[in-house]
Amino acid sequence: MKINRFKVEEWFNKYEYWAKYDLADTCVEALSINELIEIPGENFSTVEEIFSRKLNYGDIHGSKRLKSAIATLYDNKTEDNITITHGTIGANQLVMLSLIEPYDKVVTIIPTYQQHYSIPASFGANLTTYRLREENNWLPDLDELEKLVGNDTKVICMNNPNNPTGAIIPDDMLYKIVEIAKKSNAYILCDEVYRGLKHDGNPFSLSIADIYDKGISTGSTSKVFSLAGLRLGWIVGNKEIIKQINHQREYNTISVGILDDYFASLAIENKDKIVSRNIEKVNIGKKILTDWIEKEPLITSVIPQGGTTAFVKYHKNIPSEKLCSKLQEETGVMLLPGETFEYENYLRIGYGNNFEALKKALFIFSNWLNKQ
Ligand SMILES: Cc1ncc(COP(=O)(O)O)c(C=O)c1O
Repeated sequence: MKINRFKVEEWFNKYEYWAKYDLADTCVEALSINELIEIPGENFSTVEEIFSRKLNYGDIHGSKRLKSAIATLYDNKTEDNITITHGTIGANQLVMLSLIEPYDKVVTIIPTYQQHYSIPASFGANLTTYRLREENNWLPDLDELEKLVGNDTKVICMNNPNNPTGAIIPDDMLYKIVEIAKKSNAYILCDEVYRGLKHDGNPFSLSIADIYDKGISTGSTSKVFSLAGLRLGWIVGNKEIIKQINHQREYNTISVGILDDYFASLAIENKDKIVSRNIEKVNIGKKILTDWIEKEPLITSVIPQGGTTAFVKYHKNIPSEKLCSKLQEETGVMLLPGETFEYENYLRIGYGNNFEALKKALFIFSNWLNKQ
């Protein structure tokens, strides 16, 4: 099946391995296995337990322990509402494989992770994208969205908190989006991979799976738990949807690795400690970034409310891919071009990692930009 090239992932493949200052990354500094097993304070027994595990397939749809831990991230969910996947990337694809057929109307809110529009298009869906705008703080205009969705949409795809903008849809607006979906009896696939990284107040913003029967939440340990290397994700939805998804899942997953399942359980059971570590880190990084934006007249941005990235506008007449490749060649600073999200004159900056490098790289970038 033909599919468009995945612009963000291909940019990473081409540029990340030689970046001196990687400001394109979306993870909060990763945890090592040693750091993770120290968190529950059961160092020795944990190690013993891991090494004595038989490396069989494990629990096919994910262990009871893992699903119980994931259920604590949502309201009133049980094992039957959850299935375990290869990251959020695997989760999103499985949901789409299960729900979308040729000619189905799909409305995807962009900018977002490219899976949410390129996969439906590759399936032959009737795809419409709704473009968020900076002037609306990267939030949807509900009248516009309602018109686009109409009463014949099968699936609305969205991402909340949003990558790249860092916007979080306020609760009342999320409820209104559900009302819009109900007119079509549409599913809402909400990629919630950054849910748990709201910068102020409760880090866990409202989940679509907690407010809408046809709302499907995807997530993982990658961002919120700083464990991208586990490649462990999940889908949460009503029991019938999960059954339907598992029907597809038998063809592409069998089970996830039992070590991944084990470490993910450990991490999610200790969510309070890991999430507060990460919220502290993203707020440090955000302060460095926002102080820099305030002083840099060639850059403007909506301040992110969640996640690990900002989508900044630059005021120079250079295409974003050209800007990023030239910048990296000349200074070693890696940024992500807005064009990879279908938005020109924007750049994505990640701020959850290595704050000394962040400060230095922003300084270098300013000097460079002012000379262009
Ligand atoms: C919005 C979004 N969805 C999904 C993914 C993939 O995440 P995972 O590592 O959980 O597969 C990413 C990764 O950057 C992302 O930003």
